[in-house]
Amino acid sequence: MKWQDRRLLDLFGIEHPILQAPMAGASSTQMAIAVSEAGGLGAVAAAMLTPETLRTELQLAQQATGRSINVNFFVHKPPVVDAGHEARWRKRLAAYYGELGLAPDAGAGGPVRAPFDAALCEVVLEYKPKVVSFHFGMPDAALVRRLKDAGIVVISSATSAEEARWLEAHGCNAIIAQGAEAGGHRGMFLNDDIARQAGTMALVPQVVDAVKVPVIAAGGIGDGRGIAAALALGASGVQIGTGFLLTPEAKTVPLHRAALKQAHDNSTTLTNVFTGRPARGIVNRYVREVGPMSPDAPAFPLAAGAAYPLRAASEPKGSTDFMPLWSGQAPTLAREMPTSALIATFVKETGAVLDRFA
Ligand SMILES: Cc1cc2nc3c(=O)[nH]c(=O)nc-3n(C[C@H](O)[C@H](O)[C@H](O)COP(=O)(O)O)c2cc1C
Repeated sequence: MKWQDRRLLDLFGIEHPILQAPMAGASSTQMAIAVSEAGGLGAVAAAMLTPETLRTELQLAQQATGRSINVNFFVHKPPVVDAGHEARWRKRLAAYYGELGLAPDAGAGGPVRAPFDAALCEVVLEYKPKVVSFHFGMPDAALVRRLKDAGIVVISSATSAEEARWLEAHGCNAIIAQGAEAGGHRGMFLNDDIARQAGTMALVPQVVDAVKVPVIAAGGIGDGRGIAAALALGASGVQIGTGFLLTPEAKTVPLHRAALKQAHDNSTTLTNVFTGRPARGIVNRYVREVGPMSPDAPAFPLAAGAAYPLRAASEPKGSTDFMPLWSGQAPTLAREMPTSALIATFVKETGAVLDRFA
């Protein structure tokens, strides 16, 4: 396949302009390796890793592939705990604690979500991946400088043209335009009004017009039709998340896989009840009853403290009632196919669509 727009291919040193979305808790380093070996850009999701576990994953990636890889971090501001807000949240969830037989003050025990910092940066600099990507903005200028001085390409997600311009001004070498269709957390950081979030079709050309750096389209893309459409809108490449959730390399748990297989175009919503930040997932009992957007949810990621025990208590009984079932708006496009075959399929399908317009 001969891609017309080589900007991302040259920037990342890859063959196909297809990025696997980093998906904390759902993607795996094996997936990242498979994507990169197949010519795309694989991503190690590091948002829930400590410096020690990050080192393990980067070692694994480095041993398995000499190809370009992306390492992804969250860059949210660490929240200030507000006891009143915490108490309100616990009170809102108290009935579920009762139903599941949990002590009202049951401990969190869920995954840690720490923002990118100097300690994580040290580990990154030991391994020097080709690309580092961020979600929720950018880290301090000093950390960005350290990455760039090491020759690392830095990218981040924008959900508006305003955020794209901000990211470019803060040193991003390429920008992911994340449309409202996207699964998982919204990367929004200059605005918190989910009603104003644009879809991929509207967002991508406006971001392309707003910045000089190459743009990567994300959100609702799951096959060659979507990839070709994104390229037609001016994107230099795509980032796909939900489309990989049914691959054998995904860490998607069986209940989540089953929910994805039953989901449709109208099964998801944006909800803050799992972590405190809006994220797209399949509607379940917890989302329906407590959200989808609850003013009682404490700031990201504190809401997970009281929410996670509900999942931990119900999931082993086979219930999806309290599980985050992250998905974009195109779950029916996700295929149960090995990751490497999926990349080859994306390339073939895109070529076939583009040929129709040649
Ligand atoms: C299960 C899941 C987890 C995600 N976790 C992350 C993450 O850790 N970091 C990140 O930058 N984006 C994350 N995202 C968002 C993706 O980067 C991307 O914007 C999205 O998957 C694109 O939309 P799609 O799911 O419709 O393909 C996640 C998405 C999903 C579906």
